[in-house]
Amino acid sequence: MSKCFYITTAIDYVNGQPHLGHAYEKIIADVIARSRRSLGQAVFFLTGLDEHGQKVQQAAQAEKRNPQEYCDALAADWQAFAQKLALTNNDFVRTTQPRHKEFVQATLATLNDAGHFYKATYTGFYSAKEETFLTEKDRLPDGTFDASYGEVVELREDNYYFKLGAHQQWLIDTIEANPDFIAPSYRRNEVLGFLKNHTLEDLCISRPVARLNWGIPLPFDPEFVTYVWFDALVNYTSIAKAHQELGLWPADIHVIGKDIVKFHAVYWPIMLKAMGLPLPKQILVHGWWQKDGAKISKSTGNVVDPVAVINEWGLDAFRYYVLRELDIGPDGNWTDPGFRSRYQAELANGLGNLVNRSLSMLKRYRNGVVPAKSNDLAADAAKAADETRAWLRQSQLQAALQSIWGLVNRANKYVDETAPFKLAKDPAQAQRLDDVLYNLAESCRVLAVLLNPFLPGTSAKIYAQLGLTNAPDQLADATWGGLPAGHTIGEPAPLFPRKDV
Ligand code: ME8
Ligand code: MG
Repeated sequence: MSKCFYITTAIDYVNGQPHLGHAYEKIIADVIARSRRSLGQAVFFLTGLDEHGQKVQQAAQAEKRNPQEYCDALAADWQAFAQKLALTNNDFVRTTQPRHKEFVQATLATLNDAGHFYKATYTGFYSAKEETFLTEKDRLPDGTFDASYGEVVELREDNYYFKLGAHQQWLIDTIEANPDFIAPSYRRNEVLGFLKNHTLEDLCISRPVARLNWGIPLPFDPEFVTYVWFDALVNYTSIAKAHQELGLWPADIHVIGKDIVKFHAVYWPIMLKAMGLPLPKQILVHGWWQKDGAKISKSTGNVVDPVAVINEWGLDAFRYYVLRELDIGPDGNWTDPGFRSRYQAELANGLGNLVNRSLSMLKRYRNGVVPAKSNDLAADAAKAADETRAWLRQSQLQAALQSIWGLVNRANKYVDETAPFKLAKDPAQAQRLDDVLYNLAESCRVLAVLLNPFLPGTSAKIYAQLGLTNAPDQLADATWGGLPAGHTIGEPAPLFPRKDV
């Protein structure tokens, strides 16, 4: 039996409410997870929350709450958000859970015993916002630090360090020997460029309790808690361990955003090497969303509220837009007119209209009874299915949607070419009308199967309207001819109601 396909997302800081960027990443991972299940693989999909560290401690303090209570309250919101997105995650990690904390401490103890750490005094600059130490090299030409670091303070303190330098050449060789380890390839080139032109500094893996107590205590020194990034990265393995019987490690894909590549592609592989564990097969890096060409920011009010969009337009419209608009890699730009235009053209007039008129005509002209098989669109459907399967195996989600819409557009054109409403007026054309109605209904069925990982609600509705009782969740069923002659379909209803805007 092949190993369970293990896919993860970044775990989000619980210092606020989820936004478009968080939703996007989780939907990418969900579509890949659903695709792999649809391809017949066993899948384990993990997402969750990063609850320790100064950022979260400060957010709790600002609300005058104890950090654990603060995290518990927000974790409920984030889990509800995962449901709102219809994520099919198999677990939801919170880094404050005992199963995780115990694993982090065991890992730290083992690495300490093996001599990977040393204690030293640090004097320099620190950004609490990014939980990171800064050096003179991080200063901008005008002598200040980038605004993204927030307030930067100078400090002098003892800490524990993880010896990274000894592994630098090994990491370069590993990335060079595994071309798919970091995707897209331009992210891989950035990491290689960084590794070849910089000497890796050792990683500080502790914070003194005197300054920060919201963290996992170091098992070998109670004066310190674990650096939040060391704690957070380990989640991918602590939860694999919690489901030991599934043999999850190594992960197949870590889906992350472009700002945290260094943690995943430099620190994490070296941590794993020190832990004696194999590396994940791929770090899949997505870009960042802007809105109307500017940074998404709560303080300026330039935000997209995913929940509001979903409540107004439906979950599948939201999932569709983010994946169709933006390939995994570059940055994207959300605009409300762009969203409405894809909704209207591609969902309402494209897919929705095809399904609605195909099934309505079958109902009207043949009482909803499927005629004998006909193959006019069989080759088009096979092409869309073959392409979609191939794209999905490569996590090329935007390309898969383009292939699927190749069939949507072909089938809509076929309606125009064959004009079934004219055929219906001529009794001599009854056989031709049967053929056309079969091709349209069967195309709708194949589309439901291909769309299932992306638009699970819509896919289920199409199957229900076709009167099919099995689930459209196996890509093997996207084979032409699945609708049996004589089968009676259900009730057609609009999938994407037109909105006047
Ligand atoms: O970085 N567009 O958490 P986080 C797209 N806890 N993606 C975005 C985005 C945007 N505008 N803004 C954020 C952390 N993201 C750590 C991760 S993993 C072991 C620990 C993405 O809440 C971001 O790139 O700041 C990251 O992948 C994820 O949201 C969580 O960001
Ligand atoms: Mg962040």
